[in-house]
Amino acid sequence: MSSTPAQTSLNKLDFEAIQHLMAPAMKQIDQEILRELNSDVVLINQIGFHIVNSGGKRLRPMLVALSACALGYEGKQHTTLAAVIEFIHTATLLHDDVVDESDMRRGDETANAIWGNAASVLVGDFLYSRSFEMMVAVNNMRVMDILSHTTNAIAEGEVLQLLNINNPDTSEAQYLEVIHRKTAKLFEAATQLGAVLVKTDENIEKALATYGLHLGNAFQIMDDMLDYTANVEELGKNLGDDLAEGKPSLPLIHAMINGTQEHANFIKQTIKDGDRDAYLEVLAIIKSTGSLDYTANFAEQQAKKAIDALGNIPNSKYKDAMEQLALFSIQRSY
Ligand code: IPE
Ligand code: IPE
Ligand code: MG
Ligand code: MG
Repeated sequence: MSSTPAQTSLNKLDFEAIQHLMAPAMKQIDQEILRELNSDVVLINQIGFHIVNSGGKRLRPMLVALSACALGYEGKQHTTLAAVIEFIHTATLLHDDVVDESDMRRGDETANAIWGNAASVLVGDFLYSRSFEMMVAVNNMRVMDILSHTTNAIAEGEVLQLLNINNPDTSEAQYLEVIHRKTAKLFEAATQLGAVLVKTDENIEKALATYGLHLGNAFQIMDDMLDYTANVEELGKNLGDDLAEGKPSLPLIHAMINGTQEHANFIKQTIKDGDRDAYLEVLAIIKSTGSLDYTANFAEQQAKKAIDALGNIPNSKYKDAMEQLALFSIQRSY
């Protein structure tokens, strides 16, 4: 179910329009990211620059800026918080690629493939701790409260996921709990922080947080689908990494319940073995059981909930962009 070229270019154009709208803010954020990457330890600079300059979508920092702009924020602290959020994201990616034994990201070799696991883990730690230094400099207790809980939830999500590895009995509820913590919480923090900076009323802050949370769910559910259906060049990551790792993601969970006994047994065994070679057969099964459609539909419902949450946010081009981003998160091919 890889996207047709026409669909793909349309999605890219939509995302590029949002990138264009946010270009001035993103330029500031990128400068802050580069400034804060600095260390007198050469390897930190090397790995840091490798990953930061490798063309990530910068979705989460963009959400901090969009959320702040949608509420008319006129200060400068969103730049620092956006950089903090991207550092946390980057740290989790460095760690995630070690845990997942992934060797390709953003169309390039992963840091662990180039410098090894130890260096990746340690530079991930550097990025985490640098992000704490930056958030303390913002000197806002609510910000520290949100970000400390968020990083803690991400760590819990990754450990919970580890416990589900090679376990075909993982339920949909357990899967959703993992993605809520490992991915959605950071999106939630990104959009909530914009509102915290504006010191808006509680309901508006809650609405933006809810938007981020559902967007994050939609984003990760699609990511788990793209691990089976994407075009490698566009995605910039290897397909089948989840299968190789024995990760019970939503398409597989649905197929085990809704497929024939034979289908279910095959997928169960593949999850237990973490067998990349079964990729084509698993793909055929999750297509025939309607599990890809189910997954896409689940992500779409989450994106709709994200958009609905914005109901009471005043209309603006930034709010429009946030609605578009929710759609991009489920239509994306990369
Ligand atoms: C990848 O996130 C990790 C997931 C939560 C799926 P992104 O797809 O936002 O990664 P980059 O930063 O654009 O490479
Ligand atoms: C995302 O999970 C990692 C975190 C949220 C920490 P994945 O393992 O699915 O992400 P990719 O596919 O490697 O980008
Ligand atoms: Mg991974
Ligand atoms: Mg993935």
